[in-house]
Amino acid sequence: QSTTEIDLSKIVPGQAIKTSFRKQPLFVRNLTPKEIAEADAVDVKTLRDPQTLAQRTKEGHKNWLITLGVCTHLGCVPLGAGEGEIKGPFGGYFCPCHGSAYDTAARIRKGPAPTNLHVPDYTFSSDTTVVVG
Ligand code: FES
Repeated sequence: QSTTEIDLSKIVPGQAIKTSFRKQPLFVRNLTPKEIAEADAVDVKTLRDPQTLAQRTKEGHKNWLITLGVCTHLGCVPLGAGEGEIKGPFGGYFCPCHGSAYDTAARIRKGPAPTNLHVPDYTFSSDTTVVVG
C-alpha cells in the first residue's frame, strides 16, 4: 500500500490542482469562503449522495477538498482542476463525457454519475502537508 505526500503550501484559495494517487488522478482543491458557503447552503436531503462538506473534509481544514479525479459514472477525468475557469454549472467539477456536474464539495448534482467524487483516506501530517493512503 503506497502513500502519496502532497504539499499544500502553494495551492491558493480558489485553485484546484491535479496530481495522482496510486496511478489515479487526484484533485486537491483549496476552497474559498464563498465556495464553502455554497456547499454548506445546500439542503443535504436533496442530494443524490447525501453528504455535508464537513463529512468530506477534515475538521479544522474544511477548505481542503481532496477527491479522486475519476467520474463515478464511467471513469472519465472531470474538468475543473487545472483548466482554469471550467467549473461547470455547480461551481465544482464537470465531466465532459456525459455531462455530470459536481458542486464545490465535489458532490454529484446533475448528470448520470451515481455518487460524489470519492474521498480517499488521508491525514494531515502538518498544516500544509497531507499524506494520502
Ligand atoms: Fe463522467 Fe459519464 S464518465 S459523465
